[in-house]
Amino acid sequence: MALYDGIGRTYRRTRQADPRIAAAITAALGEVDSVVNIGAGAGAYEPPQTALAVEPSRVMIDQRPAGAAPAVRAVAEALPLADDAVDAALAVLTVHHWSDVAAGVAEVRRVARRRVVFFTWWPERVADFWLLRDYLPAAAKTDARLAVKVQELTRLLGAHAEIRSVPVPHDCVDGFAAAFWRRPEAYLDPDVRAGMSVFATTPPDALREGLERLEADVRSGAWHRAHEDLLHRDALDVGYCTVSVDL
Ligand SMILES: C[S@@+](CC[C@H](N)C(=O)[O-])C[C@H]1O[C@@H](n2cnc3c(N)ncnc32)[C@H](O)[C@@H]1O
Repeated sequence: MALYDGIGRTYRRTRQADPRIAAAITAALGEVDSVVNIGAGAGAYEPPQTALAVEPSRVMIDQRPAGAAPAVRAVAEALPLADDAVDAALAVLTVHHWSDVAAGVAEVRRVARRRVVFFTWWPERVADFWLLRDYLPAAAKTDARLAVKVQELTRLLGAHAEIRSVPVPHDCVDGFAAAFWRRPEAYLDPDVRAGMSVFATTPPDALREGLERLEADVRSGAWHRAHEDLLHRDALDVGYCTVSVDL
């Protein structure tokens, strides 16, 4: 069973495209006429000019909206497309799941004629996010194991990469791992955590103590006192970024 056949069951409830992040991805793509969306999931952030969505999880494919681009059950490491088949390849919050990143990047370069865009994160920056650093070190370890270093991605892309930070809005609609940086109570909701692969792939026992401590700190106001500086910010650079190359 693909990992997202499990995680994906609650995905559409907590994981919708955030319009500000969508705008950053659209800007990174630039003017392209055809796109392959790799690790497309349920279709969040999928540009209208998408010719094909590639996604290994049947549960995710089944949640794609009516009228979305055709989706094929396949993986990045073996893309079912001819060489130079599309203008651009897009991979949003997926490369950390690829079993062979080098093979996936080679495939992405093979099928795209003009541009490749990843939306991902700097693992060393996310490790410093208060939730992982102060409460859930086991999840930090999972992230360190799963996440792909941006330097590694740019090395594999083998061309001059443009890296742009994408700050996370305080009311981010897409419930990915650091989305609730100003809303700590959200992390206490098991449904919210279920849509985040870093928690879904960390044993629950390893998270229990930190979550209990977070709950106590939110209730007592200790979290808000310690993070006063965050409460007045509209967006935070937590380490998410677009990585783009022209081919
Ligand atoms: C966090 S979800 C992101 C989905 C979508 N791009 C989005 O932003 O909502 C990660 C997706 O990558 C997919 N995935 C996992 N392994 C993959 C692989 N080897 N190749 C392509 N996609 C993969 C998962 O099934 C899942 O749908």
